[in-house]
Amino acid sequence: MKPIGPLMWEHRLIEHMVDLLRSEIDRITSKKTANVILIEQAVDFFRTYADRTHHGKEEEILFRDLAQKKMSPEHGKIMDELVREHIQGREKVRKLVEAKDLYVNGYADALPHIARELKELVDFYPKHIEKEDKHFFFPCLDYFTEAEQDRMLGEFRVFDQNMIHEKYRTVVETFLGKQVMRPSKAG
Ligand SMILES: [Fe+2]
Ligand SMILES: [Fe+2]
Repeated sequence: MKPIGPLMWEHRLIEHMVDLLRSEIDRITSKKTANVILIEQAVDFFRTYADRTHHGKEEEILFRDLAQKKMSPEHGKIMDELVREHIQGREKVRKLVEAKDLYVNGYADALPHIARELKELVDFYPKHIEKEDKHFFFPCLDYFTEAEQDRMLGEFRVFDQNMIHEKYRTVVETFLGKQVMRPSKAG
């Protein structure tokens, strides 16, 4: 498998979440009520899966290695745009949380606010994904030898293995208010 394989599979799951949120916008508009549990799960999905796990592999492994290559100006420009878009995505999720908190606290105007922030997210993600799938990932593979691609895939796997531990360590540390011990790298 090519290293872009897992990234593209992850895009497909993100698209399913986007579809769910499109339906939620319709529901908010017609029923005048929001599904807070879905929105909170979506926030966790975008933060833990789409951003930390997926954008994490893109930025900390793929983009890091691409930065060592002589990229064409066009590909370099797209990579800069992608990093900026990741930052914008985080900001959109933060605004959704703000809107959801207003709703939970009973603010009357919060419902259209939630719908607006959800719309921002569902408009944003498919465009970002299309840019990577159709204009970036495949040409980027040409910068790497087969051996480099295999090594990258291996690094992706190790990165993913750590995610579940990082996620729940963070949950415990947040409530505990302090860091807990990390396993040593030597195992
Ligand atoms: Fe991305
Ligand atoms: Fe992506």
